[in-house]
Amino acid sequence: GDVHYYKFVLKETNVTKLCVSKRILTVNDSFPGPEIHVHKGDTVYVNVYNYGPYGVTLHWHGVKQPANPWSDGPEYITQCPIQPGANFTYEVIFSDEEGTLWWHAHSDWTRATVHGAIIIFPKEGTTAPYPEPDGEEVIVLAAWYKGDLMAELAEDIIAGTDLPHSRGYTTNGELGDFSNCSSETTYRWLVDYGKTYLLRIVNAVVNAELFFAVAEHTLTVVGMDGAYVKPIVTDYIMISPGQTMDVLLTADQPLGRYYMAAREYSTESAAVTGFDHSNATAILQYNGDYNFTSRPIFPHFQLPMYLDMKAGKNFTNRIRSLANEDYPINVPENITTRMFITVSMNVLCRNSTSCSTDMGNILATSMNNISWNNPQVDVLEAYYRNLSGYYTTDFPDWPKTMYDFTSDNYDEDAVITDQGTKVKVLNYYESVEIVFQGTSVMGGSVNHPMHLHGHSFYVVGIGSGNFNNNTDPLSYNLIDPPKVNTFGVPKNGWLAIRFFANNPGVWFWHCHLDRHMTWGMDTAFIVRDGGTEETSLRPPPPNMPRCTDLPDMSIK
Ligand code: C2O
Ligand code: CU
Repeated sequence: GDVHYYKFVLKETNVTKLCVSKRILTVNDSFPGPEIHVHKGDTVYVNVYNYGPYGVTLHWHGVKQPANPWSDGPEYITQCPIQPGANFTYEVIFSDEEGTLWWHAHSDWTRATVHGAIIIFPKEGTTAPYPEPDGEEVIVLAAWYKGDLMAELAEDIIAGTDLPHSRGYTTNGELGDFSNCSSETTYRWLVDYGKTYLLRIVNAVVNAELFFAVAEHTLTVVGMDGAYVKPIVTDYIMISPGQTMDVLLTADQPLGRYYMAAREYSTESAAVTGFDHSNATAILQYNGDYNFTSRPIFPHFQLPMYLDMKAGKNFTNRIRSLANEDYPINVPENITTRMFITVSMNVLCRNSTSCSTDMGNILATSMNNISWNNPQVDVLEAYYRNLSGYYTTDFPDWPKTMYDFTSDNYDEDAVITDQGTKVKVLNYYESVEIVFQGTSVMGGSVNHPMHLHGHSFYVVGIGSGNFNNNTDPLSYNLIDPPKVNTFGVPKNGWLAIRFFANNPGVWFWHCHLDRHMTWGMDTAFIVRDGGTEETSLRPPPPNMPRCTDLPDMSIK
């Protein structure tokens, strides 16, 4: 493959939206940030200069980075932050992804403004398994916060609510003409009648799943998370934070202007506060001669409403891998490691002798009632150098108690979570099955889009209620399960995934709703070396950002 070089300069930039100016952290002064264009098999070196006020890392979401977690990016998992004034060059290796992925900051909440699309064309001389489009358009959906994101978050934790919620969603950085002071900047996409376009859609929103539709136009989903899917012809898509979708659209409607709109999809009860009812709008505009004065048509009947769980599920349940001769799948059948993991809202027990579930405790999220705590030295460095005291390898394969996970009579014990830096160790090439079980603990039942670094996984089963170990595996889809890097555990339901642990290194996995990620719904895999040079963790590159309390590194 080819080699490409990019320079990313992180710094604060003044941006005005909703009539208010504010400083946000950006890459190369743009929101969203620059696109990366590659062919499958290429390598990209991204030299990141941090001229911002705090330490940051970048992550290449969905890029597997074979044996190279050093450039994966999650802070305190595979590196320490790039400090202000410092720089670091990421080596991003594109192995088997094709389609659209994205990159984003992976430090606290910085990804709200620091993100961009990654476009991966098929290898030179090969084509995608759908008719060649006449043009392409990248749609990055994100959210705009009026105030300071960190401050809002801190306030909201004290208030005990589930905020921060955005002050409006954006399409390629713009809120659209339904929002104050935004009509002039509304994003416009010009199309020619009769042509077919590929839309590359990224959900970069920090805290919400979205519905997206284009008035009067049919969408055909052909790819997701950097892999091809069986075409889905649909009026709308539902896209979780972290997910990317490739969608064909034919401009076959009367010349005119049509809204492309994204609306928050929530699986929370209507009682939840701070719900964002603003839609992001952009305008699809035909080239040609017609009357421009009328308002564009809105996708009233295509775009589902905020709490339409049926619409969310109906779309999600249609996703299938292409799974044909040219694009075969490789689903593990003889499972060697099986895990059953609750994903839950909890309270953190500060003082183990007087743990109560009363208010006054800190809200947290967990996997198997372990709430992730970032170590002082990143897990990868500690693993590679054999440093003890930074993490433990006892992440539980099972919840501490079994209870009726999805009823309102959940076990009171399940409310409390421990804190820890517990990882799961896997041998090279183990075949892994994980069943994620959503819970209704603390009324906190929502979809959880779970994301795995370093691997794609197959979604072999999805269902509502408690997972039934006797019957549910019988209905697994091992024929054409979706191959993805992020997929929602349904509200009060379960999700079964399978993958081969074929990538040596340390790999983070977590809920991609940032409020859940920052509160602890995370853990990491260590995948051991496979015994050959090819199947072993690479040595660290020069100039890895150092952790401040790193011990003497002269001995390995
Ligand atoms: Cu898109 Cu760990 O992230
Ligand atoms: Cu979550």
